[in-house]
Amino acid sequence: MHPQPLQNPASPWHAGELAIQQSVGVVGRMDMPGRKFLRPFLLDQHREFYPLLHFVVLGSVDAQGDAWATVRAGEPGFLHSPDPSTLHVAAGRDAADPAEPGLADGHAVGLLGMDPMTRRRNRLNGTVRRKTGVDGAGAFDIGVVQSFGNCPRYIQNRSVRFVRPADEPTQVPAVELASLDQRAQALIAQADTFYVASYVDGEDGLRQVDVSHRGGKPGFVRIDADGTLTIPDFSGNLFFMTLGNFLVNPKAGLLFIDSETGEMLQMTGEASVILDSPEIAAFEGAERLWTFKPRRIVRRPDALPLRWSMAADGWSPHLQMTGSWADASQRLAAARLGRQWRPFRVAQAVDESSTIRSLYLEPADGMAAVAPLAGQHLPLRLTLADGSHLQRTYTLSLAPSDGRLRISVKRQGRASSHLHGLKPGDLVEARPPAGSFTADAALRRPAVLLAAGIGITPLLAMLRHIVHEGRRTRSLRPTWLFQAARTRSERAFDTEIAELVKAGNAEVHWVRTLSQPGTAKAGRDYDHEGHIDMALLRATLPWDDYDFYLCGPDAFMQATYDGLRERNVPDERIHAEAFGPSALKRSMAGAAPAVELPAPATQPVRIIFADSAKEARWKPGDGSLLEVAEARGLEPAFGCRGGSCGDCRARVLQGGVTYASPPSFAVPAGEALICCAVPAQGTGEALHLAL
Ligand code: FES
Repeated sequence: MHPQPLQNPASPWHAGELAIQQSVGVVGRMDMPGRKFLRPFLLDQHREFYPLLHFVVLGSVDAQGDAWATVRAGEPGFLHSPDPSTLHVAAGRDAADPAEPGLADGHAVGLLGMDPMTRRRNRLNGTVRRKTGVDGAGAFDIGVVQSFGNCPRYIQNRSVRFVRPADEPTQVPAVELASLDQRAQALIAQADTFYVASYVDGEDGLRQVDVSHRGGKPGFVRIDADGTLTIPDFSGNLFFMTLGNFLVNPKAGLLFIDSETGEMLQMTGEASVILDSPEIAAFEGAERLWTFKPRRIVRRPDALPLRWSMAADGWSPHLQMTGSWADASQRLAAARLGRQWRPFRVAQAVDESSTIRSLYLEPADGMAAVAPLAGQHLPLRLTLADGSHLQRTYTLSLAPSDGRLRISVKRQGRASSHLHGLKPGDLVEARPPAGSFTADAALRRPAVLLAAGIGITPLLAMLRHIVHEGRRTRSLRPTWLFQAARTRSERAFDTEIAELVKAGNAEVHWVRTLSQPGTAKAGRDYDHEGHIDMALLRATLPWDDYDFYLCGPDAFMQATYDGLRERNVPDERIHAEAFGPSALKRSMAGAAPAVELPAPATQPVRIIFADSAKEARWKPGDGSLLEVAEARGLEPAFGCRGGSCGDCRARVLQGGVTYASPPSFAVPAGEALICCAVPAQGTGEALHLAL
């Protein structure tokens, strides 16, 4: 798909940029920045910045229409701006540079000025103007068409030095490669930085060339067997100039530099943008991917008179929020294991309050864990001292970006007592995280998290996720956390939540209630005596349109849900984690009409458990198919037992099932949620399940 560029004079963006902005829902939001930050001149601060630089990155297009990225170097002062519309570049011609032909008089050019020591940068595109006799034959001016910022977040801090005079060319010849050889692959494989040139030709006949910087952890560029490079696109300034250009015109020029030898690897070829792929979700921090297939590859050993050295603590702190291809492929491999039970080892155990203990779990089979969504739970199978098994579900209390799995468990029964007794090194079995009670950090509608007691765990994961994503994308979803506990000593995660509130920069609010404050001090240890109720919400929350997320004991959930519904909060704005058959009763008045479900069977039905070669008889009044299976000695997987997590789903091989009310989990066709399903009327003699 190649949208036409620059056809919409009403927008500061061209069709490709708009297409990507649309894919992330920011078209309206980016109109004003486009008008404000794309300037047809250099600001004074940028005019003063360019003379400080030792090098500049250029993007150009040759006579064949191929894009190239390159570098020109010089002692500070080799760049200067005689007036706001002009940048002067005092650098000689370089016949060995495949980008040189594109730097002829009148050609469109892209430029990136960047100081890796300070991460200051400026980008511009414009037109080359060459005059003879100024600073030698190679000097040229760039007439500024657009000047704008460049995302600094993935720039590594490096100092730069000259190893020979800037105008002394290398004696080592350039070589054209037929494909990426070992040396080229090694350079790419260890790169944490590269530059990319792209361009579009507008209907007005004007060409717009851009060049930009890309950074990530070493190895963030994957080299596939056919020589195609795959690159994660991390969150940036939402301009999407490079990727937007690719949608209009796939021509791209990539430049990798060996900072220790000054070698340049310049490639031109075609790029392609990937907006939807399981690899995007598997690569932490990736919003999109793009690929690049090189068509011409030029290696220029010792091309640059510069060398760069990583500063102490030079890695961009934003790299911590990005993954690696090794992690991504491990995650995909783990996802392919499906819903199998896998061994997990307790890595750490931490007491969070007088009754809650956290266990950090890591895979014990050498593979990665499947990354959860914030709010999901982990199905666990425990082997007790007498060899018997217990299957339970515990909500994860860390965010996906934390890269670890943590369950936080209140001691209140056999399984939780067993978990409280585990030590680092002990094993449990787990299946992939599941559940549809999750929060989307990208929404702008404020979130209200209502937690009672141990119900804090999924909401803590959501809060961590919202704050992390807010920092990563520089757009934090406003969030209120109401946390209820009986006593100060029973309340968990005080320090952790306080840090999140601080990191939330006034966008995160925390209200703590204690029903039995005892000696706790109001204002210091809690904010409100009593429970979370409608009066507290009314008195605290400013008038707005919210998403409510509820987790806690059944009575708290039902009372809060009913209270919100009475105040006309739509059902779809109330998200709830409900465990057990006494799941939340929702009132659907005013909601879309429910799907009509088949009637349950009124006669006994034979149930065939095909995988275990067992059968049982279900009679009206017998309860769910899960209960029938358990009574027959089977141990099917389950989570919530309330139709919301999907853990219990099983394939229906023959016959049909129905439910008392539509489960909140969207059941895939041909499957049944056995925790709440019963045989449907018309099933006939037997219902066959793959169990
Ligand atoms: S166990 Fe959660 S949907 Fe059945």
